Amino acid sequence: MKSATKTCGILTSGGDAPGLNAAIRAVARTAMDVHGITVVGFEHGYRGLIENRSRVLKPTEFSGILARGGTILGTSREKPFKDKNWCDETDAPCAVRSIKENYRNLGLDGLVILGGNGSNTTAAMLAEEGLNIISLPKTIDNDIAETDMTFGFHTALSVATEAIDRLHSTASSHNRIMVIEVMGHKAGWLALYSGVAGGGDVILLPEIPYDLQSISRHLDQRCRDGKTFSIVVVAEGARSVEEAAMDKKKFKKAREKMSGSIGYRVAEEIQTATGLDSRVTVLGYLQRGGTPVAFDRILATQFGTAAANMLAAGDFGKMVALRDGNIVGVPLDKVAGRVKAVPLDHEMFKAARDVGTCLGD
Ligand code: F6P
Repeated sequence: MKSATKTCGILTSGGDAPGLNAAIRAVARTAMDVHGITVVGFEHGYRGLIENRSRVLKPTEFSGILARGGTILGTSREKPFKDKNWCDETDAPCAVRSIKENYRNLGLDGLVILGGNGSNTTAAMLAEEGLNIISLPKTIDNDIAETDMTFGFHTALSVATEAIDRLHSTASSHNRIMVIEVMGHKAGWLALYSGVAGGGDVILLPEIPYDLQSISRHLDQRCRDGKTFSIVVVAEGARSVEEAAMDKKKFKKAREKMSGSIGYRVAEEIQTATGLDSRVTVLGYLQRGGTPVAFDRILATQFGTAAANMLAAGDFGKMVALRDGNIVGVPLDKVAGRVKAVPLDHEMFKAARDVGTCLGD
């Protein structure tokens, strides 16, 4: 069948995630080799699209990138619809006008966007502006709506789990509380899964506001049971019961006053409440860097080939998603502006509680 798309663009946007290169390779190889589509790569996300920093990708560019972390296209957190990109003399953002011009001048029939929540919201807005968009769900946070899994998550999960494993021996040698802070501002998938995989004794995440007294009781009980150390896994978006009761403004102010990140505060609170010696590890960007695990390479490859096939079929305005084991396209407007938090009835919460983990409540 003849491809509906002759020329397409591709860009990676938002924080990088392991598997981006595998996805780029899958989109480009399938688009070029199977459908004869010319693929134009934009540098540094939406910034490259606004400024037309682009190049026609060559087949040789994809050799050896499957296992490589980061993105060969570069990325940025540029948001074309943000106020700063607005032109006074027009009724549309300059950035969006440039994007449309570049899209037209380069002769694009479609654009593939690899991004997280913010990038998918922008993708939906560009689709509304008339561009033919297909997106892929990328983030280590696994918090994109309408897909069971994002690529990048499993690599970050392995890194965080290994870190927790390593903390066990030093925690037990010193009889300490080891607090480990992992990524996840709005959703606690990474904290919950790595906490379960690594046997965290306490897991704190944005979905369940924590009560310091419950945590102290749990840790004290462990001491009485003869357990001389504990591991506390904290998502960077974790908040206390008191904070959860605050309005947005008050919460923001309270957080501005906080010295260091949430992991430091939790460690201090625990040490003060229990008298137990506490230390902090903030895992940070180690979770995002480096080579993707096999699962992320496979998922990214499946997503990428599906995106290229959708380009050829002219099936636009969708994000490629994993649903009940199937790769499907979901309408972008169902994804835009949403965050997939861990549902409170998720079976992993039950499993964590069943093995004696305190979830802070
Ligand atoms: O992309 C998601 C994420 O990894 C979050 O978990 C984290 O809060 C954020 O990126 C930080 O990214 P940056 O510092 O690059 O903006």
